[in-house]
Amino acid sequence: MNDQDDAQQDLIQRGYSRRDAARILGVLGAGVAVATAGTPVWAQRNDGPEEGNFPKVRIGSNECWTGPFPVAQAAAAKIVSHANFYHPGTEVTDFKKTLATIEGVPVDHVLPWPGSSDPLSRIVVAFCSPQKGLVTADVSYEQPWGTAEWAGAKVTKVPLTPDYRHDVKAMLAANPDAGLYYICSPNNPTGTLTPVADIEWLVANKPAGSIVLVDEAYLHFSHGQSAAPLVAQGKDVIVLRTFSKLFGMAGMRLGATIARPDLHGRMMRYDGKRMSTNLPLPSVVCGTVALTQKALIEQRRAEMIAARDFTFAHLTKRGVKFIPSDANMFMVDWGKPAAGVQAQFLAAGVGIGRNWAPWPTMSRVTVGSMADMQAFCAALDKIMV
Ligand SMILES: Cc1ncc(COP(=O)(O)O)c(C=O)c1O
Repeated sequence: MNDQDDAQQDLIQRGYSRRDAARILGVLGAGVAVATAGTPVWAQRNDGPEEGNFPKVRIGSNECWTGPFPVAQAAAAKIVSHANFYHPGTEVTDFKKTLATIEGVPVDHVLPWPGSSDPLSRIVVAFCSPQKGLVTADVSYEQPWGTAEWAGAKVTKVPLTPDYRHDVKAMLAANPDAGLYYICSPNNPTGTLTPVADIEWLVANKPAGSIVLVDEAYLHFSHGQSAAPLVAQGKDVIVLRTFSKLFGMAGMRLGATIARPDLHGRMMRYDGKRMSTNLPLPSVVCGTVALTQKALIEQRRAEMIAARDFTFAHLTKRGVKFIPSDANMFMVDWGKPAAGVQAQFLAAGVGIGRNWAPWPTMSRVTVGSMADMQAFCAALDKIMV
C-alpha cells in the first residue's frame, strides 16, 4: 500500500464512504480550496471592519495592543538577510528545543506552524469524520465547528457551566464516542479557564482512540496551568499554542502543537511535514527569543490585568454587567441587542467585538492598552447618557 492508499483506508475506517474518501484526498492533494458548493454560514460571519478601514481604538479581535518584545524583533530583523535559504541554520530546531524545555516535553513532541489556525483545522480533519464527531463548548471559538461540518462530522455543542468552565462531564455524556473533544482554555470569548483537573477527568474517561485538544491561545495572559504535562505523560492530548496573542505576533503567523509524535503523524497525511518545516524564518526566530523572556511575559500580563481591572471597576461603577475573565477579553452584557451597541462604539472610534449567537445582548471586548481601555470607558459614558 502506498501513502495515498493508507490515507484512504484511514478515512474509510473513520466512517467515510470510499467515494467521499477519494473526494477528500483528491481535494487535498490538488490543493483545491472548496470542497462543497457555496460559502458556509460560519465563513460569512462579520468579525469587524474591512482591512484598511479600522477604528482608532481596535479592541475587537483579541490582538495584543503592542508588537513583539524589542529583543525578539531585533533577532527577527537579523535573520532577514539570510532568508535566501529555507534553513540558514538551526532556527526551527532551536524553536522546538526552546518550547520543549519550557514545557517539559521531549523535543520530538513539539511542532511549529504558521499560526495555530492551520493545525486547528488539521486536527479536526485528522480525528473527526462522519462517524467520529466533534464535541465543543457553547459559547466557544467556532473555527473547528466549520472544519467539522466540512468533514461531514457531527458537531455537539454543550453549554458552559454556570461559572463558565467547560462542562467536561456533560461534554462526554453528549457524545460518548466522539473523535475530538475541544477545550479552549482560557475560553474565547469568555476568557475563563477550565481547570486542568477537569481536563484530566475527561482524558481519563473519554473513549479509547479519541483526542482531547486543549487550545491554549490565551494561556500566557492568565495564571492558569498548561495541559502540556498530560502530553509528557503520553496521553491522547494535543496542546495548541499561538504567538498571535500575548507575544504580539498575529501578523507574523507562528503557532505550535505539543503532542505525541504518532498524533502529529496523523496530522501530516497530505503534505508530509512541509507546513511545519518551511516556515517564515523571522517569525520562528522572533518566537524562540520571545519564549525565553520570562520577566517580559510577566510584565505584559500584569499590564493587561491592570487595564482589565481598571475597566471592570468602571463597568461596576456604571452598573454594567460583565463576566469576570482570566484573559485579554471579556463579555459585557448591555441588556439590549449587542449589534446596535457595537455600532455606537464604532461611531465613537472604538471597535469592540461581536456577540455570540446564544448571547445576543453581550459583546466581546478585547483588553487593549490602558489608553485603549480609557477610550472605551469614555465612549461608554457617552453612549450610556
Ligand atoms: C482560541 C483561538 N484559537 C486559535 C486561534 C487562531 O489564531 P492564529 O491562527 O492567529 O494562531 C484564535 C484566534 O483568535 C483563537 O482565538
